[in-house]
Order: sequence, then structure tokens, then C-alpha cells
Amino acid sequence: MEGEGKVDFKASEIEYVSYGGEHHLPLIMNLVDQELSEPYSIFTYRYFVYLWPHLSFLAFHQGKCVGTVVCKMGDHRHTFRGYIAMLVVLNSYRGRGIATELVTRSIKVMMDSGCDEVTLEAEVTNKGALALYGRLGFIRAKRLFRYYLNGVDAFRLKLLFPRPQPNYYNEYTADEARVIVD
Ligand SMILES: CC(C)(COP(=O)(O)OP(=O)(O)OC[C@H]1O[C@@H](n2cnc3c(N)ncnc32)[C@H](O)[C@@H]1OP(=O)(O)O)[C@@H](O)C(=O)NCCC(=O)NCCS
Repeated sequence: MEGEGKVDFKASEIEYVSYGGEHHLPLIMNLVDQELSEPYSIFTYRYFVYLWPHLSFLAFHQGKCVGTVVCKMGDHRHTFRGYIAMLVVLNSYRGRGIATELVTRSIKVMMDSGCDEVTLEAEVTNKGALALYGRLGFIRAKRLFRYYLNGVDAFRLKLLFPRPQPNYYNEYTADEARVIVD
């Protein structure tokens, strides 16, 4: 873990790119291996980035990869659901909004692709992640007992996108609509 103090940088120096091919894979793997408790095999990484390259983003500072988000989406029961699998920012770059920017980009693509909701799991002890997702509007939908290999429970977090409301008033004249509203 790179914990030797914060790096001084301007927000405008961080470049965000969506997954661009095999050369990005080791950068993502290195970051996640360094910073997340759960170990993943190369097949897991490939599953996500090959099938949903447009849902994964990397953050670079002066050519160095300092953050990443990896996601997928698909049908789940009766919903079309986005899923955030991994979100990591290098320790020395944290607290400056990089994770928020990464995850917001993925969520926007999910929303534009017609997802009804976005979910993820986070360790119940992960205050940083829980605060970040809470601020973005995620709610705690479920507690999963000993979900991780390290024995820690998880919260399943969920963000629901508002469905477009039918515009009832289009069927009425302006006067009729005013009566309904009053
Ligand atoms: C969680 C993580 C991705 C956050 O990255 P980050 O770039 O520091 O996040 P941001 O700067 O965008 O933080 C945005 C908000 O999240 C919250 N937050 C982030 N880190 C926090 C921390 N350590 N303690 C409390 N709140 C925190 C704050 O609400 C912050 O809002 P603020 O700017 O008003 O303070 C990063 O700490 C990390 O990589 N952790 C290890 C991997 C991990 O736990 N990933 C999540 C798995 S679910």
C-alpha cells in the first residue's frame, strides 16, 4: 500500500478514461490487488472489462494510474441492473473526489443504458465507501453475513433511478389541469 503521505495535485491534472484495452488490465489489477481485501483472479477482471469496457474507468495523474472503477450490467429478476464490482483509489490520492468522479461516470452510463438500479457490496466496516455511496444516494438494502473471505459482513447498497412519470396533465386542457392541481 502506498501510504507515504498525500500527493499534491490539482483536480484538473487528473485524466479520466474508459477502459481502452489489454494495456489497461495490469494497471487495474495492480491497484485492486494493492488496495482491496478480496483477491480476484485474472478471469474475474477479464469477465468485467471484456464484456462491459464502457462501464470501467481509470484515473491517471501524470501517466500513473491512481484510481479505477470496474462494473457490469444486465438483467436481474425483473430489473435491468448495474453493478459496481470494484472501486479503488491509491491511498496517497484519496479524499479529493477521484472515486466520486469515477463512480459517477459509470453510473451515468448505466442510467443512459436504461438501468433501473445500481447495486454493490461493501464491508460493514468500510466507513469511507459507505459515506461515499451514501452521499450519492445509495441505501443499505441488506446485510450479508460473513460475505467476504476475511469473515466480515457486507451491506448490499442500492441506488434506484426514478422512473419517468406519465404526464397525466397532457390529457387535459389547461383549466382542467389547474382544477386537478388545486
Ligand atoms: C473508498 C475509496 C474508493 C474512496 O476514494 P476517494 O477518492 O478518497 O473518495 P472521494 O474523495 O471521492 O470521497 C468522496 C466522499 O466519500 C467519503 N469518504 C471517502 N473516504 C472517506 C473516509 N476515509 N472516511 C470518511 N468518509 C470518506 C466522504 O463523504 C467524501 O466526501 P467529502 O469530499 O465531502 O469528504 C478509497 O478510500 C479506497 O480506494 N479505499 C480502499 C478500497 C475500497 O474500500 N473500495 C470500496 C469498496 S466498496
